[in-house]
Amino acid sequence: MPELKDQLQSADWKSEKHVPYIDCPDTFKKSEPVRVTVAVGKEVPHPNTSAHHIQWLDLYFLPEGEKFSYQIGRFECHAHGASIQGPDTSTIYTSPATQVEFKTDKPGTVMAASYCNIHGLWQYSKKIHLQK
Ligand code: FE2
Repeated sequence: MPELKDQLQSADWKSEKHVPYIDCPDTFKKSEPVRVTVAVGKEVPHPNTSAHHIQWLDLYFLPEGEKFSYQIGRFECHAHGASIQGPDTSTIYTSPATQVEFKTDKPGTVMAASYCNIHGLWQYSKKIHLQK
């Protein structure tokens, strides 16, 4: 039976337009906020039309040595050009990019997920280390 975990696709963010690239420092100081930017289409822009777009971005943090990840936040992209005149008529399009901050005293892995209404679920991860 197919499982949801098998639907999570990953690829090189430099050539695959769906990957939710994570931009944040490699190291952070204890109790100081870690600022994270998540963006789809950093190198290869993803289409943003009423028919084909990114619907949401999720960010999680898995502390080193723990079993369960914590959801840091979700950003939903709601505007995709539709208006009362029809698809792609409003000129208003939400960019699939967001910035969040979170605090932790533990090193771990920042994980992002994105969802394209046509091409499904995508993921990307980045380890962050505690500054000594
Ligand atoms: Fe897509």
